[in-house]
Amino acid sequence: MAYRSVFLAVLLGTAMIVAALLINRARPSFEVNQPTISLVRASGKCAECHRRETAAVVHEFELSRHALKGVTCLDCHQTAGGQEELDHRGFKISKQLTGANCKQCHPHEYEQFLRSRHAAPAWAAVRGPEDFSAEQIQFSEQFHPGAVNRKANMLAICEGAGAISRGCTACHDVGKPNQDGSIGSCTKCHARHVASVELARLPETCGQCHLGPDHSQIEIYHESKHGVLFNAQRKIMNLEARPKELKVTDMPVPTCATCHMSGIEGLKVTHDTTERLSYFLFAEHTELRPTGQQGQLAMKETCAKCHTTPTIERFYTEAITVLNETNDHIKEASTIVEKLRVDKLLTPVPFDEPIEFLYYDLWHYGGRTAKHGAFMGGADFVQWHGYYEVVSKLVELKRMAEELRSAHQTPRQDRPADDKPETSAVTQPNSFTGN
Ligand code: HEC
Ligand code: HEC
Ligand code: HEC
Ligand code: HEC
Ligand code: HEC
Ligand code: HEC
Ligand code: HEC
Ligand code: HEC
Repeated sequence: MAYRSVFLAVLLGTAMIVAALLINRARPSFEVNQPTISLVRASGKCAECHRRETAAVVHEFELSRHALKGVTCLDCHQTAGGQEELDHRGFKISKQLTGANCKQCHPHEYEQFLRSRHAAPAWAAVRGPEDFSAEQIQFSEQFHPGAVNRKANMLAICEGAGAISRGCTACHDVGKPNQDGSIGSCTKCHARHVASVELARLPETCGQCHLGPDHSQIEIYHESKHGVLFNAQRKIMNLEARPKELKVTDMPVPTCATCHMSGIEGLKVTHDTTERLSYFLFAEHTELRPTGQQGQLAMKETCAKCHTTPTIERFYTEAITVLNETNDHIKEASTIVEKLRVDKLLTPVPFDEPIEFLYYDLWHYGGRTAKHGAFMGGADFVQWHGYYEVVSKLVELKRMAEELRSAHQTPRQDRPADDKPETSAVTQPNSFTGN
């Protein structure tokens, strides 16, 4: 008897527990997955509700160092400076977040970024100076003369509004002026909620914009020994190492960030990507930058954390040879095009004649690629996507120029020798090239 009642009690108890578990499983998941106490403390009401509404956002935030260090949703989402306010579930949040929100806690990084070509020059490269205030133009011009105060890009105008908004500015908006008076976006490299240095150190993050025939940096990197080795070893690297403590043993192979920005082995972290550069490689005719000497020293100092001086010097000597030869080829090509313009065999309008596109492809694709390949270790880009494109297009360009001359049966050849062309025509062509 006693045994039976004990058995029944146990059976009933088990059944109740199972039933309770089953009922609990049927409840909506948000009632089960209540935010942890620490998360509620960190982010309060926002996270509690957004766990149901947009769980991915909260999850990404939880993965971030911000969550670990007690930064809350509202710390970022409240208005900064002159931002427009939005009433949201009993809170006041900013209608649009910009670099100004990050600047509140990271003024140092913001200031470095502001000095860089990722800020105003990037936007002005497409749109010219019109969207900036006089102070913003003046500020940027002291670091990059002529990079903001220049005409809007002629190729972009020729292509039209759709190309500008869905194409050019989708990359160049890293330096877009914001309504609140700040410039640019930090989340292009850090993302909005995970905001990690790990993400920023991955080559693919830079490769969102640094790709394709005119700036093939990601392709060059993947071809280089650095890229190959990084992909082989990334799993064993400590990509989350604190920037001020980053060692070569954390990342024995460099990514874009290591060479251009990181503070590896006690170097200074920089958000000014110009600091370690010596030449204007992207330019039609490459010259030393105003800060080129110190830029080259700074980059070589970075290489020297992993390499010996002879290796670095050899690398630079070879790259500079490529640079000089490319300059020579492009000079030859640009002289041919300039002469055609002087002789009025081309219209003054840019990008309305085939030879202008051919010349643009020659320097903007082939020329740049050879130089970028040489300085970042991509042999295929030096050769097949670089030199080969340059020399083969040069032959085509010469033929086209001859055809233009013979087709026009040049009345100007009869002109007296002192009938000089207008000088403006001589200096114009370069500003039409879209550089
Ligand atoms: C009671 C629920 C609730 C709370 C509390 C709440 N939100 Fe929201 N939030 C929502 C919902 C619902 C949406 C709209 C989602 C949609 O449209 O798909 C939203 C949208 C947003 C958006 C997008 C706005 C837009 O215009 O695109 C942001 C940003 C946001 N919330 C941030 C916050 C922050 C920061 C807090 C805390 C200060 C917060 N939310 C508190 C429910 C909430
Ligand atoms: C490090 C700063 C930062 C923190 C912390 C942060 N956010 Fe955001 N959040 C952003 C930025 C930047 C955007 C993009 C907003 C924009 O473009 O105006 C954004 C966008 C959003 C959106 C719109 C997302 C979409 O894709 O439609 C929601 C919702 C949101 N945040 C909720 C939250 C919640 C909830 C938290 C806390 C759990 C939080 N955020 C914490 C910076 C932050
Ligand atoms: C309320 C202050 C605050 C705001 C606003 C803020 N941060 Fe932070 N951020 C911090 C703190 C605190 C840390 C942790 C610093 C540390 O660990 O030394 C941090 C760390 C970081 C890190 C390093 C993360 C890592 O993985 O090591 C990045 C990147 C970062 N923030 C980017 C941003 C960006 C981008 C924004 C704007 C969208 C932003 N922060 C807004 C306070 C803030
Ligand atoms: C896929 C992203 C992307 C798109 C789309 C893009 N660019 Fe760029 N652009 C870049 C990057 C990255 C650089 C830097 C190249 C370098 O320094 O080697 C650059 C460099 C430039 C430069 C040279 C730098 C300077 O300040 O003079 C100009 C001019 C330029 N782009 C204009 C344009 C125009 C105009 C368009 C559209 C017709 C456009 N870009 C489309 C990413 C892009
Ligand atoms: C071009 C990509 C890029 C942009 C844009 C960018 N960052 Fe960074 N940021 C990085 C990289 C890469 C690192 C990591 C450097 C390293 O390897 O140590 C970093 C590191 C940081 C850190 C950690 C620094 C430290 O010393 O602990 C903070 C904070 C930060 N960024 C904030 C910002 C803010 C704020 C902005 C906008 C003004 C911004 N970043 C824009 C690429 C970027
Ligand atoms: C959102 C697009 C975008 C991302 C992401 C991006 N860049 Fe850029 N970057 C640009 C554009 C656009 C330019 C050209 C700016 C100009 O000179 O007009 C540029 C220029 C540069 C330059 C040349 C600066 C100079 O002085 O000429 C370097 C170096 C550079 N980026 C490195 C990086 C690195 C490293 C990363 C990743 C950590 C990165 N970029 C991520 C768009 C981007
Ligand atoms: C091993 C170091 C190293 C790595 C890794 C590296 N770069 Fe570079 N990068 C250089 C050097 C060196 C130069 C030429 C510097 C000079 O002007 O003397 C350069 C030039 C550039 C330029 C050209 C600026 C101009 O004048 O046109 C850009 C943009 C750039 N790198 C972006 C990147 C991106 C994006 C990645 C990753 C996909 C990357 N780099 C990887 C070392 C590196
Ligand atoms: C964080 C460390 C690190 C930095 C910084 C670094 N490298 Fe390297 N580099 C490596 C490693 C690792 C290898 C592969 C070495 C091996 O094969 O054992 C390598 C290989 C090379 C090679 C040989 C390529 C081949 O095809 O065999 C050259 C050349 C080179 N690096 C040049 C440079 C230059 C120039 C810089 C600076 C602009 C630089 N590296 C920056 C780590 C680095």
